[in-house]
Amino acid sequence: MPPSSSPLVVLPIVGTRPEAVKMAPLINLLKARPDEFKVIVAVTGQHREMLDQVMIGAFGVHYDHDLAIMTQGQSLTQITTRALDGLEPILKQEKPDIVLGQGDTTTVLAASLAASYQKIAFGHVEAGLRTDNKFDPFPEELNRRLTTQITDLHFAPTPQAVENLKREGVRDEAIYLTGNTVIDALLQVSKQREAATEGLKTILVTTHRRENLGAPLENIALALRDILEKFPETQIVLPMHPNPAVREVLLRVLGDHPRAQLIEPLDYLPFVRAMEGAHLILTDSGGVQEEAPSLGIPVLVLRRTTERPEGVTAGTARLIGTEREDIVEAASQLLSDAGAYNSMSHAANPYGDGKSGERIAQAILHWAGRGPRPQDFVA
Ligand code: UD1
Ligand code: UDP
Repeated sequence: MPPSSSPLVVLPIVGTRPEAVKMAPLINLLKARPDEFKVIVAVTGQHREMLDQVMIGAFGVHYDHDLAIMTQGQSLTQITTRALDGLEPILKQEKPDIVLGQGDTTTVLAASLAASYQKIAFGHVEAGLRTDNKFDPFPEELNRRLTTQITDLHFAPTPQAVENLKREGVRDEAIYLTGNTVIDALLQVSKQREAATEGLKTILVTTHRRENLGAPLENIALALRDILEKFPETQIVLPMHPNPAVREVLLRVLGDHPRAQLIEPLDYLPFVRAMEGAHLILTDSGGVQEEAPSLGIPVLVLRRTTERPEGVTAGTARLIGTEREDIVEAASQLLSDAGAYNSMSHAANPYGDGKSGERIAQAILHWAGRGPRPQDFVA
């Protein structure tokens, strides 16, 4: 640890779009306190345009180090080995007091491992999410579990996440209940919900999970087509993930439908506007499951398991799986039954209050012996 007169050197490592959304507000907050923190930003570049859109485009965060590892159709082994290889010299050169990583991507696994190989402390943002199914979501559940083993400071977003960590033997002192920085980001850009009152009702859809590639994604696309046919007053807006395996299915099944807008990924601000204007959201995204409840928009989760039960408990999200009939039935109910729709369309904030970054900053100071423990996040 440096003398208490010098700032702590913090090195966040970011790789993909969701990490960017959840880390950029924290990075900006740490940078605004130069007496306490010196921030060196490294990106693996696991994503490219989707990463830069959010980091640079939406939040103005520039990189000190960029490994630029992305290749088309990359394998998990390629991401892990290229990130590990590239991070070692950066950590040796910069010698940070603490490395920060976020979530459950392969970048976070490589970041935690690279830090521990240099015996540098690792802080895990969004720690403790679990489905308890080793291969669902894949490889995210593996990434989370392994990262927990290496982590020194666990920034858990919810009480459930704290419980999951304790159950796996993580010491109480190493866990901070901070809330999720996804809500810090959202509150920085969100306006009031502006659901359209005239014109077509928009169903906003995102889908990209590796375990949904193939038959489940085909089912999802066919179900979306069924929904459009059954409800002529609806349109689908679908910012497509750039993964070729995702695009091939979506374009083949939905590409010719006049009320299906298959568009490029949106930058974060336009995407938040699209959520605010949506009647209903169908998604397999983790981040969108956290954002939609805050905006009071019903979400149907296109997955068999979720590590985010809080939205389901709050009544704004439903886990519906990837079977064609189940998706059509769940969407039909919300599109034809106002009571069912209204019961899901209230705002709930189980994931954060916009102050999670402040708690994480305070937790880092507490860990370094430079301040009191932050107060827990209360939903
Ligand atoms: C990754 C994460 C997943 C996260 C998701 C968020 C892993 C293993 N997976 O999945 O947890 O939910 O990001 O979106 O860490 N591509 C581009 N440009 C981009 C991004 C991706 O062209 O900006 C294409 C490339 O062909 C790339 C492919 O998409 O090879 C897949 O990207 P990858 O990061 O391996 O997996 P994701 O499905 O994006
Ligand atoms: N998002 C975005 N543009 C889009 C789709 C999503 O900015 O076209 C944002 C969304 O608001 C959320 C994050 O990306 O904050 C979620 O990322 P993604 O779904 O790729 O990953 P996951 O959360 O599933 O890991």
